[in-house]
Amino acid sequence: KPYIVIMAGGIGSRFWPYSRNNRPKQFLDILGTGRTMLQMTYDRFVKFSDSQHFYVVTNKNYFDLVKDQLPEIPENQILTEPLRRNTATCVAYACYKIAQSDPDGKIIVTPSDHLIVQEEKFREKIQIALDACEEGNKLIAIGIKPNRPETGYGYIQFISDPGNPVKKVKTFTEKPSSKLAKMFLDSGDFVWNSGILLWKVGSIIHAFEKYMPDVAEVFEEGNAYYNKSQEEAFTQKAYSLVKNISIDHGILEKSNEVFMVMGDFGWSDLSSWLSLYDNKPKDGFNNVIDANAILYETENCYVKVGHDKLVVIQGLDNYLINESENVLLICKLDSEKKFRAFVQDAKEKG
Ligand code: GDD
Ligand code: MG
Repeated sequence: KPYIVIMAGGIGSRFWPYSRNNRPKQFLDILGTGRTMLQMTYDRFVKFSDSQHFYVVTNKNYFDLVKDQLPEIPENQILTEPLRRNTATCVAYACYKIAQSDPDGKIIVTPSDHLIVQEEKFREKIQIALDACEEGNKLIAIGIKPNRPETGYGYIQFISDPGNPVKKVKTFTEKPSSKLAKMFLDSGDFVWNSGILLWKVGSIIHAFEKYMPDVAEVFEEGNAYYNKSQEEAFTQKAYSLVKNISIDHGILEKSNEVFMVMGDFGWSDLSSWLSLYDNKPKDGFNNVIDANAILYETENCYVKVGHDKLVVIQGLDNYLINESENVLLICKLDSEKKFRAFVQDAKEKG
């Protein structure tokens, strides 16, 4: 059975104010299904494995949230980070830890905040990737057909190999400029990186040794911890030593052992209000309403307000209206790029 490593340490500022520092989007029931994004990730992968093979890597402040939301997972497999050091460090921590007990295991690394629509197809593709990572030192990424020049993703150029579902990756470009992203999209040779990655324990350790030797050196020492408090002392030290760098920049851009399996299963990383809006059912005027609301001459809006209030709206097009706790946000639905500033300025205002 493969190990499943769920990365759940992001802070997700683009969903502010709904998502806060103390509760980023992976811990929210963002789709209104009764399960949070983290729980949905667990549900999706438990079919390949069992609860005893799961690891969740998260900030120490979110330990209780993870424990509450996924009581199935053994507590010592909720790995807590003292600092945010990005996904390369998160992956190293989990993979080196798994290597201690099972150096021949296989690992699936997954983000904790994505939507996948066709579960059946998803299972089929993950299985193909799981079988393929058996051979050599392959690092397998699940690719997604792009539909816009998004600059927040990784772009994978692969070598055409008709009939083979496992493609060799030629180039990997994390978060390109918008000019490059447009070129990539127009060329038709590129797919997005979904962030779901598969490999053997040995393959990823080999990659860390080759491309991030400083990280490898730090985490190899982890073999020395035997109990919780030693592990905490170790991570405290390890995290203060390593740089803040993503697995995409640190390994995927550099390695020539990256392969891609196409994930044509309906994917969205729900990274913004707009992408959430896109994935929700709408009324006859393309509004998504999660509120007790009366609308006049209003279209293409997303209204999410506590149901204890009556909201009356007139004459809006393409707006987000969100009230979460003590913040009411009214802005253009596609004002994604401004969110960092919103959060920052709001913090100053108190
Ligand atoms: N434990 C831990 N620690 N988890 C983290 C950390 C960290 O320091 N930073 C991020 N994560 C988690 C997030 O919670 C999320 O589930 C996942 O790792 C990916 O991090 P993001 O911060 O959301 O990355 P991104 O969206 O900018 O880019 C990645 O995902 C894209 C697809 O959504 C890259 O892999 C891109 O190449 C990819 O296209
Ligand atoms: Mg993301």
